[in-house]
Amino acid sequence: MRILLAGGAGYIGSHVAVALLDVGHDVLVVDDYSNSTPASLDRVERITGRSIDVVEADLADLPASRAELSGERFDAVIHLAGLKAVGESVTEPSRYYRTNLSSTLNLLDIMREHAVSKLVFSSSATVYSPAAEGVENLDESQPSGLGITNPYGWTKAMNEQIIRDVQRSRPGLQAALLRYFNPIGAHPSGLIGEDPAGIPNNLLPYVAQVAIGRRDRLAVFGDQYPTPDGTGVRDYIHVMDLAEGHLAALQHLEPGVDTFNLGTGEGHSVLDVVRMFSDASGKDIPYEIVAPRPGDVARAVADPSKARKRLGWQATRSFAEACQDAWRWQSQNPGGYPI
Ligand code: UFG
Repeated sequence: MRILLAGGAGYIGSHVAVALLDVGHDVLVVDDYSNSTPASLDRVERITGRSIDVVEADLADLPASRAELSGERFDAVIHLAGLKAVGESVTEPSRYYRTNLSSTLNLLDIMREHAVSKLVFSSSATVYSPAAEGVENLDESQPSGLGITNPYGWTKAMNEQIIRDVQRSRPGLQAALLRYFNPIGAHPSGLIGEDPAGIPNNLLPYVAQVAIGRRDRLAVFGDQYPTPDGTGVRDYIHVMDLAEGHLAALQHLEPGVDTFNLGTGEGHSVLDVVRMFSDASGKDIPYEIVAPRPGDVARAVADPSKARKRLGWQATRSFAEACQDAWRWQSQNPGGYPI
């Protein structure tokens, strides 16, 4: 198939591109490089020995995107385009709603115009409502869309709803909503990885920058949660496992909308991450405990059994491997991609 990969130059997108190219699909990336760089796609070409077609367009701009894509043929869409900084979404909600919702609405229009019916959408575990008492790992039947604490999370929940409603009006549409837990790590080549602009919001890139000496110490957001060591517990999934989950979802699409967790089913605390990354890098990771970050939950771990049963997919790479691969990327590219 020739896959339109929206947001393909970003952290997740570049790894999905490798997974697609490696099994013989062709890839057409659409990206506006607002939080990414074409250098990642050059690296994808180096890793795979394949070439990628690229269209530079802002998917929130329908006339421009339509014009750029008018002569293009594609068989399916993987939609990863959007803004993703939780804190920024609180201070700039309009920009988040406008960008993340328009891009989905526009892509759905463009799909109809091109008679394309296959869609894989990048959603997030953030759409789940806070887990009820006694619920350990989150499965897809858990309530979602209530108690979301930031506009970024709302855009994911709203996009899920938009896709469901459009599917009802367009029954041939086949969509998979993939709820990512916490993607970490990098392709084992060390050529592509996460390259956040400015101060990283997420734990792994922050820890990696402490290890490489770009930042002094990690601030651990709270140590009084009801977890084994008091720090927050998350389900960290290797980005190549996550990327392969997109392939599996694509292969199993059928008319309708289905939802799948992409996680490992295992939880690790912030202090586990510090220890594991220190082992992987051979560096000390100084840290201090500070106040909890508003909106954080104690624990978010997937029940990934639906994806295993229905897609034949499960994460195979270990947490240690993810930290080693993240370190290889960070140490080979201490300043991220070349500008
Ligand atoms: N943390 C720190 N210090 C930091 C950064 C994070 O202690 O500098 C802690 C957090 O409190 C949390 C854990 O590390 O316990 C993971 O935090 P991340 O910011 O890496 O990830 P989150 O689980 O908060 O966020 C992720 C995605 C979001 C998504 C959310 C849904 O990055 O896109 O999951 O739960 F919305």
